[in-house]
Amino acid sequence: MVQDDALPWDRAWQQALYGKTGFYRRPEGPGGHFATSAQGIPQGTEMLAQVVVGLARRHGLQHVVDVGAGRGELAAEVARQEPHLRVTAVDVVPRPGSLPAEVAWQVSPGGSALPAGLAGLTGSLVLAHEWLDVVPCPVVQRDQHGVWRVVAVGRSGNERLTHEPDEEQQHWLHRWSTDHVLRAEIGTPRDRAWTDLCSRVDQGLVVAVDYGHTAGGRPTEGTLTAYRQGRQVRPVPDGSCDLTAHVAVDSLAAGTPGSRLRRQGDLLDDVLGPADAVPHGLARTEPTAYLHRLAQQAARRVLSAPGGLGDFWWVQLPRGATVGP
Ligand SMILES: C[S@@+](CC[C@H](N)C(=O)[O-])C[C@H]1O[C@@H](n2cnc3c(N)ncnc32)[C@H](O)[C@@H]1O
Repeated sequence: MVQDDALPWDRAWQQALYGKTGFYRRPEGPGGHFATSAQGIPQGTEMLAQVVVGLARRHGLQHVVDVGAGRGELAAEVARQEPHLRVTAVDVVPRPGSLPAEVAWQVSPGGSALPAGLAGLTGSLVLAHEWLDVVPCPVVQRDQHGVWRVVAVGRSGNERLTHEPDEEQQHWLHRWSTDHVLRAEIGTPRDRAWTDLCSRVDQGLVVAVDYGHTAGGRPTEGTLTAYRQGRQVRPVPDGSCDLTAHVAVDSLAAGTPGSRLRRQGDLLDDVLGPADAVPHGLARTEPTAYLHRLAQQAARRVLSAPGGLGDFWWVQLPRGATVGP
């Protein structure tokens, strides 16, 4: 049964993640519930930070801004690896006590909204790592006649189909969805959030990293799902779990001409160079270094695994004049 408190998914989602007692306001942070390339994978933070530092160097940038920074895990590692870089982390909670002093912190409203102070950036590499997948968006589903309907959800997670999508939503579906798709997340809030983020940078490089899809491979049943304490669970908008859906990255890139789409595996090869085998002889001469190299090799495999993190999309938009490709 659907309760009377049922709301369109985008509103319920916003409330569940960023309301007063929303999931992302909890003290444990995202790291308490799931691992990403930025935290929770042994040597993963170090490797992703190497890529960020490598991109900043390549483009001659002096400031790294991590939007949707969790508790600043990646930002702290970037600052550790390259002390000459200015580093700013942005998320919805007050500055975490554990964050090193050299990392600046900005508090953001959450979801598609960004802080007013994040503006006019120059010489900046702005990274949004797994931000857009948690920007709430409308969920729609075809009814028995094949007509798109907005899906509403109650606090217990029960759903019902409601009215037809509005004109803008219909337009997005017409442009970016296909006949075989039965359920979808409409990308307009993500497209707008990405365009807004890009507009905050006058000169530099803006990068969104996320799991996503393009027109050729749009999932037929949508991708909305949830995570709690390391487990994938049924999506329920009660603040007890993360709510996430893959990003339509082609729609995103179309709104910011000049954007480049790449898979994470290719990007790692490009910025870090080919993954070299670890020489066995090192085990005898420098056992600690050998173990470290093995751990790095394992992290590289995880971060570039086809069918896994290696398929993540990197959407990159240069702004103003930058050096490097
Ligand atoms: C999926 S987690 C990713 C955390 C981290 N980047 C990582 O990859 O481990 C998404 C993060 O984005 C944050 N977030 C959501 N909307 C935001 C916004 N408008 N501005 C800043 N952070 C936001 C959430 O609070 C959460 O910490």
